[in-house]
Amino acid sequence: MTFLFNSDARRGAIFAEAFARELPDVPFTMDAATVDPDAVRYLISWTVPDNLGRYRNLEILFSIGAGVDQFHLDAVSANVKIVRMVEEGIVRMMQEYVTLAVLALHRNLPGYLAQQRAGEWADIAQPQAGSRRLGVLGLGQLGQAVLDRLKPFGFPLAGWSRSPRQIEGISCHHGELGLKEMLAASDILVCLLPLTEDTRGFLEAELFAKLPKGAALVHTGRGAQLDHEALVAALDSGHLSAAMIDVTDPEPLPAGHRFWSHPKIILTPHVASVTQPATAARAVIENIRRYRAGLDPIGLVDRSRGY
Ligand code: NDP
Ligand code: OXD
Repeated sequence: MTFLFNSDARRGAIFAEAFARELPDVPFTMDAATVDPDAVRYLISWTVPDNLGRYRNLEILFSIGAGVDQFHLDAVSANVKIVRMVEEGIVRMMQEYVTLAVLALHRNLPGYLAQQRAGEWADIAQPQAGSRRLGVLGLGQLGQAVLDRLKPFGFPLAGWSRSPRQIEGISCHHGELGLKEMLAASDILVCLLPLTEDTRGFLEAELFAKLPKGAALVHTGRGAQLDHEALVAALDSGHLSAAMIDVTDPEPLPAGHRFWSHPKIILTPHVASVTQPATAARAVIENIRRYRAGLDPIGLVDRSRGY
């Protein structure tokens, strides 16, 4: 019952050490060329390897990241469980990034950076946190963690999910009507949705039009959720004030793309959150233990929902 690690060697070394210590009865390898394919029961990877079919006894395919959109779920045999990464390092880094982004937008950082480049010294009107409403698209592991971290600042907080949720201190919305209500009351909108057929192209002109004038966007979901032209148009018309974007389609953006130089966009290269090998190894080992005990692994993907 071998565990095959199909990712970078640096992280693999940390996984190998954790497996040897915590799960010595599960042989661990990073060498797909020499492994007996019939022995492979567990595989961790960022994408589905082309030759997945050779692992005829595979039981769990783990994603090394939190998202699984890169997996093309149909390419994975129905009897294989697909498990996304739920680990404290990813959560903590996403909390940091979204807090950084929300505070940067709240405190008009894009405007001050533009003024600095223009040699201007002037105040920009500063609403207080109590009147800057935040809306988070997605109330999963990351959406909830981010809202929790933002609580002490005093922003009115809201979130939107597919199914109804109740979270203390958060105004929770769901469904079409709930989305409309939340958008109308979001001065800063954060996207933390998984990429599925329902969320592809989700951040587009009509959605931006439903936000209050002057609203700002933080996008840390997936690039294919954002209509780039619609964002630039909403920023150029002044309907949106600024955006902090971590994910794009394609990645990286081509030279000359408007996002590189747009004065109202802060762009980062898909670094909001990165799987941390020590905590990720712990989470995967715990999931194998759960699975062997007949429990569902944490982060088990529901193929019918696509996340
Ligand atoms: P979860 O699966 O825990 O949560 C997803 C949330 O989105 C749930 O609340 C779900 O609703 C909601 N949702 C999904 N589809 C819809 C829909 N059609 N309408 C309304 N709500 C919907 O995911 P995570 O929080 O762990 O991660 C979210 C995403 O963040 C990942 O899929 C990945 O794309 C992205 N990510 C980005 C990173 C980066 O560095 N930029 C790093 C890590 C992740 P419900 O609660 O009803 O199921
Ligand atoms: C992830 C990511 O899904 O890094 O973990 O985007």
